Amino acid sequence: MENLVQYGYVVAAALFILGLKQLGSPATARHGNRLSAGAMLLAIIAALLDQGIVEYQWILIGFAVGAIIGAAAARLVEMTSMPEMVALFNGFGGLASLLVGWAALNPGAGTFTLVTIVLSILIGGLTFTGSLIAYGKLSETIGSGAVMFRGQQVVNSLIVLGILVSAVMFTREPGNAQWLYLVIGLALLFGIMVVIPIGGADMPVVISLLNSYSGLAACAAGFAVNNNILIVAGALVGASGIILTRIMCKAMNRSLGNVLFSGFGSVSSETTEVEGEIKPISVQDAYYVLEAASNVAIVPGYGMAVAQAQHVVKELQELLENNGCDVNYGIHPVAGRMPGHMNVLLAEADVPYDQLLEMDDINPRMETVDVCIVIGANDVVNPAAREVESSPIYGMPIINVDQARTVFVLKRSMASGFAGIENPLFYKDNTRMLFGDAKESIGGLVREFD
Ligand code: TAP
Repeated sequence: MENLVQYGYVVAAALFILGLKQLGSPATARHGNRLSAGAMLLAIIAALLDQGIVEYQWILIGFAVGAIIGAAAARLVEMTSMPEMVALFNGFGGLASLLVGWAALNPGAGTFTLVTIVLSILIGGLTFTGSLIAYGKLSETIGSGAVMFRGQQVVNSLIVLGILVSAVMFTREPGNAQWLYLVIGLALLFGIMVVIPIGGADMPVVISLLNSYSGLAACAAGFAVNNNILIVAGALVGASGIILTRIMCKAMNRSLGNVLFSGFGSVSSETTEVEGEIKPISVQDAYYVLEAASNVAIVPGYGMAVAQAQHVVKELQELLENNGCDVNYGIHPVAGRMPGHMNVLLAEADVPYDQLLEMDDINPRMETVDVCIVIGANDVVNPAAREVESSPIYGMPIINVDQARTVFVLKRSMASGFAGIENPLFYKDNTRMLFGDAKESIGGLVREFD
């Protein structure tokens, strides 16, 4: 039996890695997800056999309750609320590690086990409350602004000091429960304190970082209960979370330090002066231009998700193609509110993967594009990132839609995007604004073609 359990762990670990690899491409992502879920089931069964558990009724009840809540939540959650859901998942992962670490405490525990218990409680605790705050900011159940106050650094330093002292004291006097309670309390408080000074705008990066922390907490809990598969799974989550965090920071041209400590979004740092005038266009006139186009690029952003316009966009794509036009999509790595947001939406509408071009692939072609249709994207196509040195987003890589012969920008108003700054694209000579909800505007174009 012992051997069988270990083989089960090895197979589960291999499937986790294979599943993660498959998540790297939209074509294989679903399969990768299923593979990883299957691997998790295998890991759970192997771990139960490993622990020699004989009474399963509570485990089965927990399993059923968790499965029902998880399945219902995944079905009911709106695509635009996915980051909030991930925040909650991370938070509960952190809480689970805290509880596992706590439960692993026994009178005979050696120093190594005690240190891993403290780590799983500490990282799990701060991940739990940090994720709840991130959830609250994203869903705007609490204010989404950065909360900063005088003496914040001092308070945070005192909390860190308190955590260090109580953690050391706990490992020296594990029988004295007050040190453990102090670590738990301070870890929960620290999670709140590290996330409140970060603006709602940066929450996706924070969530990805907390995802990494939840993995590290699980890894520490794995050491605490001496379970290899928990160590492996935790390490994989920890590593992939930190890689994703790095990718997001790079795509916004910001350092992690800047995201965590600058309070970006707490004050309006608008400095961009724009020249030119707004030139609105009607659906009918936009149709005439599109009908004559032979090369169209579609650049979606957060507004396409809000409008749920992906299906009509696919219809428009097909009509353009039937009209002899070449159509591609330009996908910015941080378009929308979570990594892969646009890819998921377009995949849902069955847009072929090979028509989704990454920023670096579509940019060199932009000058040959007749019409670029920007659908609810704003910051990721803002030329101020290239041209205005004083802009807060200066240096952020963007899709150069302004280099197309004609640009249609579909949005409801002149409101700014996520970064809260003016966009000179809207005033350029070759830009036409098609105002209205993206789904309605595209629907109007589709009707013109029909
Ligand atoms: P945004 O800059 O947020 O712009 C979205 C635009 O969509 C808004 O200007 C809005 O204008 C428009 N819009 C909203 N609802 C609409 C509707 N129903 N129909 C038509 N238009 C609608 O989006 P983006 O260009 O995708 O940029 C993403 C931003 O999120 C970046 O600043 C990025 O750094 C940030 N961010 C993203 C991530 C990830 S991983 N994706 C992570 C962290 C931060 P109106 O209100 O006028 O319609």
